[in-house]
Amino acid sequence: MFDTRLKETAQLVEQNLAEIMNRLGNISVVHAMRYATTGGKRLRAFLVLESARLHEVPCEQAIWPATAIEAIHAYSLVHDDLPCMDDDALRRGLPAVHVRWDECTAVLAGDALHSLGFECVANAACHSNPAVRTELCLTLARAAGARGMVQGQALDIAAETAPNSLTLSEITHLQAGKTGALFSWSATAGAVMAQADTAPLRRYAEDLGLAFQIADDILDIEGNVEKLGKAVRKDADAGKATFVSLLGMEAAKSRARDLIENACDALTPYGNNAETLREAARFVISRDN
Ligand code: IPE
Ligand code: IPE
Ligand code: MG
Ligand code: MG
Ligand code: MG
Repeated sequence: MFDTRLKETAQLVEQNLAEIMNRLGNISVVHAMRYATTGGKRLRAFLVLESARLHEVPCEQAIWPATAIEAIHAYSLVHDDLPCMDDDALRRGLPAVHVRWDECTAVLAGDALHSLGFECVANAACHSNPAVRTELCLTLARAAGARGMVQGQALDIAAETAPNSLTLSEITHLQAGKTGALFSWSATAGAVMAQADTAPLRRYAEDLGLAFQIADDILDIEGNVEKLGKAVRKDADAGKATFVSLLGMEAAKSRARDLIENACDALTPYGNNAETLREAARFVISRDN
């Protein structure tokens, strides 16, 4: 079921992105935006649509936050790959935006994708109640911003040159920002749209996000460049602070398994309706891409 739902998610998001982008101009930045939002697993959009499904929010509305989060995520990857950040030349199996075009285009395409994310959740098709749209905008701003993803990215870069290695709680904090914040926003979006309790899905997503980043850090060491579509074996040389660098491989894997068990436990209030989210959680630590 999870595989099918993930494929459906990708189709819906790609169709919506194509329609949005077709209304934009014929300039390099727009071509780069289209390029940067192509491919990817669409896991964050899947979380949005699944959380909406749990709350019986129509897909025609939920597609907007799903598209929004993939735009914001794509922006974060374009900027993450820049020479001043991780300096990566390969993304989703293709040259990174700054390699295919240039750094200016990559910065601007990232900026425009960031704006596009907010446009998606602010537009009237997303929800009939303006207060709900405002709540989505506000929580997205917090998740993406200086107390969320951007903070995590800043701590990640600072850790590369820190005199002492980070503690477990510091790495957890870093990764909760860098990866967890967008995961949490995605998994709670459907509950926000239904004006329902967001707490169980937030607990699920916090553990899922951490486990996801541990898996990403493991794949940097054990993964395959063809399957991943991005460079491998870079984190250690760059001095990245990860669960693997601190705990070692076996302990990191066992930590990821524990987190996934906790994530699934958090879904108990939804009973069998959350089975696809449980499958997604198991996928996160068994994936090879
Ligand atoms: C990569 O995220 C960046 C991290 C937060 C580790 P994904 O692995 O979800 O990237 P795509 O969207 O599938 O390319
Ligand atoms: C990137 O984390 C997270 C964000 C873009 C917010 P990584 O730097 O580990 O992601 P990859 O490995 O380049 O995909
Ligand atoms: Mg990075
Ligand atoms: Mg990176
Ligand atoms: Mg990584």
